[in-house]
Amino acid sequence: MGLRTYIRENFIEDIKPYKPRHFRKPGQMLDIVSAWKGLEQIVEDIIDQFGLERDRCIEFGVEFGYSAVVFSNYFKSVTGVDTFEGDIHTVNKNEHFEETSRRLASYPNIQLVKSDYKDWIARDDQHYNLAHVDIVHNYAETFECGLWAAQHSDCTIFHDTESFPEVRRAVKDLAKKTGHKLYNYPEHHGLGILVARKK
Ligand SMILES: C[S@@+](CC[C@H](N)C(=O)[O-])C[C@H]1O[C@@H](n2cnc3c(N)ncnc32)[C@H](O)[C@@H]1O
Repeated sequence: MGLRTYIRENFIEDIKPYKPRHFRKPGQMLDIVSAWKGLEQIVEDIIDQFGLERDRCIEFGVEFGYSAVVFSNYFKSVTGVDTFEGDIHTVNKNEHFEETSRRLASYPNIQLVKSDYKDWIARDDQHYNLAHVDIVHNYAETFECGLWAAQHSDCTIFHDTESFPEVRRAVKDLAKKTGHKLYNYPEHHGLGILVARKK
């Protein structure tokens, strides 16, 4: 492969810093511990800046429901997929599907599904306005789940791009593979934002 071909095939524009125009706190939030805390202030800004419809949101990695409840303020329906068993990076490794379902019962637009993301993406072919990937923070899982999410949504966001280099690397590779635009918001452990380019 010549140098020009190599550069063309591997070129990725620098990640653009995401600059929120407005910080707005959603009306409904859970008062629980979460590394996601703080990001709730920019979700509506992301929806507005990228002109997203507010119908359907899917989340991979719900844990106790902090981010799922944030999304429920803005989307008619939120589907939350999680094994509810934790992973190598989470403190909690006890099964908690029933407990979390009870906690989120007062948010009728959230549907929780106890499933590995691998099983879910093998059978779901629907389209979402926003997808959120916050599962185990390894390269392979983030890339596989993120690729499906990028192909089935208008905008995919990834938590922990600052605190987990493997997540950041997967997100950069996804931008290269899909040709989507990539932004990064560095606060609150980092949020990568992949947006499909308008045709
Ligand atoms: C960092 S936590 C999610 C935090 C959550 N978004 C919040 O708002 O606090 C990661 C979650 O991903 C889930 N998870 C890890 N690997 C998974 C997989 N392969 N499929 C589905 N869920 C997975 C874990 O069970 C855990 O609950």
